Amino acid sequence: MLQQLPQGYTAVVTGAGGGIGRAIVTALKADTRAGRILAVSRQALQAEKAATDDDRLRALRADLTTAEGRGILANDLAGAPVHLLFNTIGILHDATLTPEKRLEDLDAETLAASFHVNAITPMLVIQALQASLKGRHPAIIASLSARVGSIEDNGFGGWYGYRASKAAHNMLLRTAAIELARYNPQAIVLCLHPGTTDTKLSEPFQARVPEGKLFTPAFVAERLLAVMGERGPAESGTFWDWAGKPIPW
Ligand SMILES: NC(=O)c1ccc[n+]([C@@H]2O[C@H](COP(=O)([O-])OP(=O)(O)OC[C@H]3O[C@@H](n4cnc5c(N)ncnc54)[C@H](OP(=O)(O)O)[C@@H]3O)[C@@H](O)[C@H]2O)c1
Repeated sequence: MLQQLPQGYTAVVTGAGGGIGRAIVTALKADTRAGRILAVSRQALQAEKAATDDDRLRALRADLTTAEGRGILANDLAGAPVHLLFNTIGILHDATLTPEKRLEDLDAETLAASFHVNAITPMLVIQALQASLKGRHPAIIASLSARVGSIEDNGFGGWYGYRASKAAHNMLLRTAAIELARYNPQAIVLCLHPGTTDTKLSEPFQARVPEGKLFTPAFVAERLLAVMGERGPAESGTFWDWAGKPIPW
């Protein structure tokens, strides 16, 4: 897996306390070629315990939606090369945020919160890690988007903030891909759709998911790493689903 990356590669996983984030960390731990795995979360991770039995894994507690949190991560890395940045941070709902069904539900604060977590944060994490991503080393920057963020694919409407913030995420990542190609010819920036996955994020909406279409986080992690493993720098700035099919913007 991830054969583009060197033996002993360094991986950073953000949102490592989330359903997919935890599964990505577990999958990377199973890769003997991974040399260093930094699991970043706002929570005290179970990974902190797991770290005692695998000294390649370290948990870092930081809220990357804040400049302070991103500073903690950048200081921790101190410009050391990062070969894999896997961002899983994203929000669809929380105690105060409900996906909008109709125009009446739109609210400036809620929209701004979605944009902040789903689009601005992943981009500013890349900015904070610039020193670790620039150079001549292979570097995959993968960030979880969602198919509903595809403008072309939007046939159903609804979920204004989530859709629009994921579309903005995709534009920011695509733009970063163009710039990063100048700083690191081996950089591969990818937007990924995991498919509907059994996590807290999808929980309130799982009743509508057709039989066999609700994936386990472990399955999704394995699929996404396989899809990433098939990409090269010429495909930087593209959008893929879990099955390895490209998604239109
Ligand atoms: N599950 C699905 O069906 C599905 C489908 C399409 C796309 N996605 C995308 O996949 C990604 C991972 O989702 P998931 O299913 O694993 O959901 P999840 O279990 O809710 O995990 C998302 C993680 O994002 C971070 N996060 C969420 N809200 C935050 C906030 N306000 N401030 C800071 N960090 C916040 C948290 O990381 P920490 O707790 O570690 O801080 C959280 O655990 C998201 O970007 C989501 O949009 C999921």
